[in-house]
Amino acid sequence: MDVEKLSKLAKSKFDDALFVVASNREPYMHARTPDGIKCIRPASGMAIALDSIMQACGGVWVAHGSGNADKNVVDERDRIEVPEEDGKYFLRRVWMNRDEEEGYYDITSNEMFWPLCHTVYVRPKFDSSAWKQYKKINRRFAEAILEEIGDRKAFVWFQDFHLSLAPAMVKETRRDVVTAHFWHIPWPQNETFRACPWKNEILEGLLANDLIGFHTRYHCNNFLETVDRNIEAKTDRAEYSVSYRRHKTFVKPLPISVDYEKIRGLAEQSVREGGVEALRKKHSLRGKFVGLGVERIDYTKGIPEKLKAYDLFLEKNPKYLGKTVYIQLGSPSRMRLEQYRKTNEEIEELVEEINWRYGTDDWTPVVYSPKHRDFRDIIPYYCLADFCVVSSLHDGMNLVAKEYISSKNDLDGTLLLSKFTGAFEELKSALTVNPYDTRRFANVLRKLAKMKQCERRERMECMREAVRENNIYTWAGNVISNISKLS
Ligand code: G6P
Repeated sequence: MDVEKLSKLAKSKFDDALFVVASNREPYMHARTPDGIKCIRPASGMAIALDSIMQACGGVWVAHGSGNADKNVVDERDRIEVPEEDGKYFLRRVWMNRDEEEGYYDITSNEMFWPLCHTVYVRPKFDSSAWKQYKKINRRFAEAILEEIGDRKAFVWFQDFHLSLAPAMVKETRRDVVTAHFWHIPWPQNETFRACPWKNEILEGLLANDLIGFHTRYHCNNFLETVDRNIEAKTDRAEYSVSYRRHKTFVKPLPISVDYEKIRGLAEQSVREGGVEALRKKHSLRGKFVGLGVERIDYTKGIPEKLKAYDLFLEKNPKYLGKTVYIQLGSPSRMRLEQYRKTNEEIEELVEEINWRYGTDDWTPVVYSPKHRDFRDIIPYYCLADFCVVSSLHDGMNLVAKEYISSKNDLDGTLLLSKFTGAFEELKSALTVNPYDTRRFANVLRKLAKMKQCERRERMECMREAVRENNIYTWAGNVISNISKLS
């Protein structure tokens, strides 16, 4: 599937119906800078992936207006056409004040749902006044969606844990609107989820949808098990559906992907126009064996774990001293929360320690660069990296793995992938690690350093085929075909 085919499919399936996407994070945010208002692309694989789809399908994307200049650029209906240079769809912004944002986003979304769904041993925070704000904001999203729809026929596609209640709120008013929900993070086992005081409300909110998608079958099974154990619903394990209050919801594994062709093209351009070479020069990487990590600074991503493994690798394999450079790009994220600040501090300390222990006047073993980057600026890093390390402690999918693969047009790169990512199910030719097992992790780094070029290329070729086949348009096409069958 490619962009044209998806566009045709959307036109034929949606006909005169409005296509609405709803997510917390917006695909474009506007920020005030000393040089005037600038448009920024947030660091969210979800937002980047969905933007490609919206550009192909058109419609309205409802999201939180979180940029400090967002209000300055919208029309009287809080909308702006995006991308600005070539308007393809409308972005409808939803506003919230600081208290509301704290309760809905900081506490309930990021301190409750996030640790509840990611098994990384961080205790979720259950705060009833924050939960009230979460409900209020879900209601606000539902109202904005209903306003956009008016009296038209529509398909609404919700994204993620920020909006678990909104589907039921939309259906209260418009039962005829078909809604789907994609859950971008893992769904935990019932054993974990049952601790949540609002578990039933969340399940009821989600079961108002006609379709719920997860990245893997394992997450679908966990969801069905959770429903079975908590509410009076009928689950069908053969059909993968739930019937609750005379409404049926299908539950499907729909692994998300990336815009393979676009990334491939950007990588080609970056090599051709000298972007990759310039970067090599800037960081003195000529002749070096270069590793890369690209992450939001988040405790689920296992960044300290990979630094510890790299440290052990250097200690046990002194012949690589002076010859290897590991670059860690990090997007500062959710920094109002203590856990996130702590993770950043831990990373900084580990980097300092490694560089102090092994570094020399003309060699820095780890380059840590925590700053927001546009997606396009990351591509040359992918191109020059001999290996990319994705060491998440738990991850719904992990799109960095797929972005790296899509950028490696010369096939000369190795992906090291955590077993605890959704991507592990698809990318069987990656080298795999348990990020908690530092000793084995360091051994895999050695194996990777010694791997013959023909093996590297073979593995990369297989993984590129997998991403090319199941790209972002195939994913969206699957969702659209599924929801259009339900109308
Ligand atoms: C994860 C979530 C997304 C979220 C992204 C970035 O991928 O599944 O919903 O947008 O992280 O996090 P943020 O809180 O900055 O939106």
